[in-house]
Amino acid sequence: MSKSIQTVAVIGAGTMGAGIAQVAAQSGYQVVLFDLQPAKAQQAKADISAQLAKRVARGKMEEAKRETLLNAIECSAILQDVAKADLVIEAIVEDLAAKQSLFRDLEAICKEHCLLASNTSSISITSIASALTQPERFVGLHFFNPAPLMKLVEVVRGIATNDETCNTAKVWAESCGKHAVVTRSLPGFIVNRVARPFYAEALRALEMEVAQVQDIDYCFKQAGQFNMGPFELMDLIGHDVNYAVTKSVYDAYYQDKRFLPSLTQKELVDAGFLGRKSRRGFYRYDDSASLSEVNFASLHTLPDNATCSLHGDWAFAPSFVEMTELPLADSTSSPYLNINGIHVVPTQGITATQLSVSLACPVVVFDYCQNYLNSPVMVIAPAMQNTEQQNQQVVAYFQSKGKQVLMVKDYPGLLIWRTWMMLINEALDLANLGGASMSDIDVAMKSGVNYPLGPIEQGEQLGWSSVLQTITHLQHFYGEERYRPSPLLRQLALVS
Ligand code: NAI
Repeated sequence: MSKSIQTVAVIGAGTMGAGIAQVAAQSGYQVVLFDLQPAKAQQAKADISAQLAKRVARGKMEEAKRETLLNAIECSAILQDVAKADLVIEAIVEDLAAKQSLFRDLEAICKEHCLLASNTSSISITSIASALTQPERFVGLHFFNPAPLMKLVEVVRGIATNDETCNTAKVWAESCGKHAVVTRSLPGFIVNRVARPFYAEALRALEMEVAQVQDIDYCFKQAGQFNMGPFELMDLIGHDVNYAVTKSVYDAYYQDKRFLPSLTQKELVDAGFLGRKSRRGFYRYDDSASLSEVNFASLHTLPDNATCSLHGDWAFAPSFVEMTELPLADSTSSPYLNINGIHVVPTQGITATQLSVSLACPVVVFDYCQNYLNSPVMVIAPAMQNTEQQNQQVVAYFQSKGKQVLMVKDYPGLLIWRTWMMLINEALDLANLGGASMSDIDVAMKSGVNYPLGPIEQGEQLGWSSVLQTITHLQHFYGEERYRPSPLLRQLALVS
């Protein structure tokens, strides 16, 4: 329990308010739950009660604890009741004017020392605070959905938020068992900003017909060790919500092309295909739903006299060396596997076709796997100059190692590697702006969106120069501002 906070008021008893009320009550706080529509607060409490009853039935909670928790939540139809609160968390409709008007009322009602917080996911904390006479006691407390389950809370500092407010809010969130990370009130805060490339790059790969939805999702989960693929995650979040977040970050950054929204996603929104909630998004969730098969390459066999050798520095991917079971012929060059004169190269943001021109030999590039040994799949892309038979030999090689092979269109950086590079670059850019510390960014991405690694630790493991090289190649290839290396990445690459 936080010493200075005993009673928490939650304003707005929708999805988030109900979850936050439950979190506070189960952490030992007295809770006042207020909604403009009193029935909503009653309904939220009834839902919490029903949910906890299930936990009791499964033996996961004692009945006495459930009763204590429910008794701690007082539903109120009168805003004046929040006067006893030491912390007020607002979770009403996402509208600046509505939030400002509510906080003006709250300032008149609440105690002098009461902390005022908003759960907004996209509105500037600084702008909400501008309506207050004491903006220094105002802070963002951004929970993730579902609040009782998601471990992350972003503590968002507006320009006027003082240290004491920020620290008390952080300590309070930690007392609720959350990972509390501190961020400046920049568009998208940490997670909604750093995660943009996870969706944007997948959408672009789809638009460029590199691979199909189910192929991309499969390789992110199986080779990338992400909990969910980008398309199924967007379907879960809802395309209306995801598209609105992208648009708001894009507009807040004065149409910075790095955050350009996707027309594919706009089209889904226009069609009303919002994802799971409307039973159709990238996938269908109705009776006509049928799972599309992943487009694995058909089976091939390597000729008996095939010669394979491994070359170069594989420090970034020791599990690839283990998978091949080959000795290193030399370790000074760029890494490549030679299969019968075909160069099989980890992608570094150059297409196989480009590499084939410069190396004057057939080339196949392959995508990043978090662990090449365990991954059931290898994603490869052949140069346009290769013959069918050459490509089949590479397919056969990986199949002989027990892998399924997904052959995609030749595309700079491929799917997982390119997405990681963009996530790392975005994370560094946020750190470079003083938006959040590197360690908080990693915590946020692991506990807010369940990434297998934080982007900063991933960047450290893969090597800053490799990241810079890939982003620079992407920028040359496309000539787009979207692939601009972060100044911090340039600096880190110099000293690593
Ligand atoms: P919701 O629509 O489920 O609930 C909003 C509730 O606020 C409704 O019950 C409504 O009656 C009530 N309300 C509206 N105006 C009010 C006022 N002036 N005073 C008191 N109650 C009022 O919305 P949801 O999804 O819970 O979102 C709430 C806030 O949390 C928004 O700012 C949203 O951006 C943010 N958020 C939402 C997340 C999500 O996944 N839904 C995740 C993180 C933040």
